[in-house]
Amino acid sequence: MDALNKKTVEDIDVAGKKVLVRCDFNVPLNGSSITNDKRIVAALPTIKYLIENDAKVILCSHLGRPKGEYKPEFSLAPVAERLSEYLEKEVTLAEDKEVVGHNARTMAKNLQNGDVMLLENVRFRQEETLNSDNFSQELASLAEIFVNDAFGTAHRAHCSTTGVASYLPAVCGFLIQKEIEFMGGALANPKRPLVAILGGAKVSDKIGVISNLIDKCDTIIIGGGMAYTFMKYLGHSIGTSLLEVDWIEKAGKMMKDAENKGVKFLIPIDNKVGKEYSENTEAMVVNSDEIPDGWMGLDIGPATQKLFTDAIKGAGTVIWNGPMGVSEWKEFEGGTVAVANAVADSGAISIIGGGDSVAAVTKLGFADKMSHISTGGGASLEFLEGKELPGIMALQDKD
Ligand code: 3PG
Repeated sequence: MDALNKKTVEDIDVAGKKVLVRCDFNVPLNGSSITNDKRIVAALPTIKYLIENDAKVILCSHLGRPKGEYKPEFSLAPVAERLSEYLEKEVTLAEDKEVVGHNARTMAKNLQNGDVMLLENVRFRQEETLNSDNFSQELASLAEIFVNDAFGTAHRAHCSTTGVASYLPAVCGFLIQKEIEFMGGALANPKRPLVAILGGAKVSDKIGVISNLIDKCDTIIIGGGMAYTFMKYLGHSIGTSLLEVDWIEKAGKMMKDAENKGVKFLIPIDNKVGKEYSENTEAMVVNSDEIPDGWMGLDIGPATQKLFTDAIKGAGTVIWNGPMGVSEWKEFEGGTVAVANAVADSGAISIIGGGDSVAAVTKLGFADKMSHISTGGGASLEFLEGKELPGIMALQDKD
């Protein structure tokens, strides 16, 4: 992907300039308290670089989906507070319901070198998600340079991610650079063998990733709820396990493609099944061709753990997206824990691609052992599908 060739903040002179920085501050909130600030922490290197290099910094982001209306519960006020703590300097929120209003304009005009301000939630404006020119121009009118560092939102073609890039010199920040280097590098020029571990509930969510990775990987490992659609294709009875009937043929095609291309394609050979979808349900281990009627697969079994961990042991690069079972329940976390341990011990470059797998790896205490944990959910999936991310493609290429 040309994304590897984009200009970064280091390729332009920011001293004394007003720089509009799109971050992904879409953090989980409980009321007005932030319950996980990883995305704020991930944005700090770019913001600190701009402060140290005498830029006048105007931050912006979305938070949740307020659907084009001002709603106080979606205000970025808690983010401004947290940023002020991390940066040890005041980050003032421009409290304009229309995002670019009197406050934002006045504050932007009066910024001194090294100052930082934050605009209100860009999704208070309905033009944002429509990528309408008028709001892109309003945003651009505040600054002289645009920096996109919102990897988690790079798959959205919105005013604050792509529209504004038509009106200002546009480069990426360090977070986008790091995400592209890890994920793009793993796809373009991986240390081999390249092993992809794909889990989660639905085949339909991951089919694009599987079909892109088949051309690049040496081994593909399938776990989680989506594995049962593959088992069904093989003619196994899967009880009441998750099944996407419309995707059985597609799943089979993936297995055949992998075989034709010499890619090892591993699906579970045994499973931990439960009587019902509940944390304390009665559970037992059965082979994949022996799931009884009325039972559902909720995790991979011990023989599968061994099969998968053996395949991970010799990996040069691992890309992991999606847990192996219902890892938020103690009884059914074993498969995800075994795989996380194997990835951590493998010495491979390990990339955890967003969403549920990040939550699982973090909760199980393996986050520090991974080379890169993506801040993108949907964005990292689309990147792994080989799609071009509009928020990155809109940025300037290196000369
Ligand atoms: C995310 O949380 O995945 C990003 O912030 C994008 O949010 P969105 O799906 O509401 O565009």
